[in-house]
Amino acid sequence: MIKSIGPKKLKTSVFISGNGSNLKSLIRFSKKRYSPIDIVFVVTNNKKARGLLFSKKNNIETKTYSFFKKKDAEIRILKDLHKRKVNLICLAGFMKILSQNFIKRFKGKIVNIHPSLLPKYKGLNTHKRVINNKEKYSGCTVHLVNSKLDSGKIIMQKKVKVRKNDNFTKLANRILKEEHILYPKAIKKLLSNL
Ligand code: GRF
Repeated sequence: MIKSIGPKKLKTSVFISGNGSNLKSLIRFSKKRYSPIDIVFVVTNNKKARGLLFSKKNNIETKTYSFFKKKDAEIRILKDLHKRKVNLICLAGFMKILSQNFIKRFKGKIVNIHPSLLPKYKGLNTHKRVINNKEKYSGCTVHLVNSKLDSGKIIMQKKVKVRKNDNFTKLANRILKEEHILYPKAIKKLLSNL
């Protein structure tokens, strides 16, 4: 469990692999006076991730790890997180599945955002599956990470109506906008419940 955050902001690391729009919204949030987090370290498996522009622009230390040998990558990441006294990890479009051992080392301190109303539509291609199944609603979920994919305790969700003329991109964009609002709210909720 995360120990009391006290008057200081919690040192946080965000893990990304792609666009980083959630990273951008979390950076904006972290800069607010009332925010409980301070993003000190951005981790990626993809040196070409577009989201790295945001961490660089905001002078946040950023490091790329090759996941060719996942075990080695995780050992190096854990060491680096420890060095920087990171106490919370936010996964934001991080496309690698962390090992049980890694998750154990950060138990209760890893959160993820997923673009569906979990427990429905775990895994990839959520919007496509939602549209194909003619669902009336989809949405996004912020949850704690445990050893099963997209299955940890749900912190907060936001429902989004699926429109008749929705395609994958339209729905994904509408949900993404809600993700940017939901993720900071869920972090605040998680940390205020301690
Ligand atoms: C988001 O839809 C998030 O829910 C999912 O991956 C996407 C990442 O988008 N896990 P971005 O890189 O934050 O723009």
